[in-house]
Amino acid sequence: MQKHVLFEHITDPQLHNIDRAIELGAYKAWEKVLKSMKREEVVQVVKDSGLRGRGGAGFPTGLKWSFVPVASPKPKYLCCNADESEPGTCKDRVLMECDPHSVIEGVMIAAFAIDCHTSFFYIRGEYDLSMRRIEKAIDEAYKKGFLGKNILGTDYDLEMILHRGGGAYICGEETALLSSLEGEKGLSRIKPPFPAVSGLYACPTVVNNVETVANLPRIVMNGGQWYASMGTEKSKGTRIFSVSGHVKKPGNYELELGTPLRTLIYDYAGGMLDDKKLKCVIPGGSSVPVLMPDQLDTPLDFESVQAAGSMLGSGAVIVMNEDTCMVWVAEILAHFYMHESCGKCTPCRQGTGWLYEILHRIEHGLGKKEDLDTLLDLAKNIEGNTICALGDAAATPVISTIKQFRNEYEYHIEHKKCLVKSDFRLR
Ligand SMILES: Cc1cc2nc3c(=O)[nH]c(=O)nc-3n(C[C@H](O)[C@H](O)[C@H](O)COP(=O)(O)O)c2cc1C
Ligand code: SF4
Repeated sequence: MQKHVLFEHITDPQLHNIDRAIELGAYKAWEKVLKSMKREEVVQVVKDSGLRGRGGAGFPTGLKWSFVPVASPKPKYLCCNADESEPGTCKDRVLMECDPHSVIEGVMIAAFAIDCHTSFFYIRGEYDLSMRRIEKAIDEAYKKGFLGKNILGTDYDLEMILHRGGGAYICGEETALLSSLEGEKGLSRIKPPFPAVSGLYACPTVVNNVETVANLPRIVMNGGQWYASMGTEKSKGTRIFSVSGHVKKPGNYELELGTPLRTLIYDYAGGMLDDKKLKCVIPGGSSVPVLMPDQLDTPLDFESVQAAGSMLGSGAVIVMNEDTCMVWVAEILAHFYMHESCGKCTPCRQGTGWLYEILHRIEHGLGKKEDLDTLLDLAKNIEGNTICALGDAAATPVISTIKQFRNEYEYHIEHKKCLVKSDFRLR
């Protein structure tokens, strides 16, 4: 069912201005935290809520915070991950553009929970309006005394620094984000150590996604149990799904976790464009396996989507109709991952290029019989053998599309053309 938690006031055109945001309840949770809660209580209420990270992996937020060694003499850092570069994903953008105060209030609460006094907001280079709205929101928050020294008359100090990225997908990966923040190239780092122990400037650091933190003011005001009453047993609350592709009404929809995929596509996104047949759906950003039409009743929660053979990932639901050539889909995704590989580890640096070259050849009528085995062999050699998950992300669409649509690959190789009529390109 559609639930407006994060989107409660999203259509208010003035919400990005601090006075209007305050009228609608902004910074009440921040005041409550500062004036009446201990750090441990904030962690506990978020644990009680069952909130899991919305950046992709779905790791429990309160648990992640509790890995930070608060007694460490080093400073602790909170970094908000606003890099949002997964193809199809545009949910954080709408929060930053329309409701930036909820987002930065969430960063403040997360910072307080880990005893951090310097927080960072790392935003994707291409997101210009989001960047301007967040910059203005941070300025306004300083002017109203919600940031800075002795906030609201307490002894708590917090700074917030906005950092604009160069627009690289890899800089959304948390360790590459930290390298980039430090002024280095955005290269991923081997884990462990995990950022909670050794992150920014080798100090304890938490990286949290925009949608994750935007939930925090609501959880603080309404309680963990309130949040946990929405969603499923293990996937609590709501999720913003970015629906794109062949649907009548693409867009961002906030639904309770556990809502069936069919309901999202047919009730909210208006059903298939031109009433064509659905071919398949990528349910969690371009890096997860496709779901087939007979899996449309899969509830959209972390466990059910995994049980169906895919992942909820970034919440980007990409819908494809019967006229979509899956070799072409695999080719453009391979091109993206090749382009975005940071190049630090060999299987990804070399493998993504090979995947693309072979797919490009097949797509353009130059495929060979043995190519399918080579593609699978390559993809399986990348998977699990790289420093970060970008390598797996590149391998997945290849493995998944060959598994589900092998006949299309074979037809391409044998007949030098597409099995399906494509909406996108002349063949
Ligand atoms: C290649 C790659 C790109 C990623 N891009 C993003 C991103 O744009 N935004 C994001 O929040 N997390 C992204 N992540 C996940 C982050 O590494 C990290 O898990 C997340 O920011 C943690 O926040 P959460 O606990 O609130 O989900 C990416 C991961 C990988 C491997
Ligand atoms: S998997 Fe790719 S993107 Fe990730 S560290 Fe290795 S080379 Fe870089």
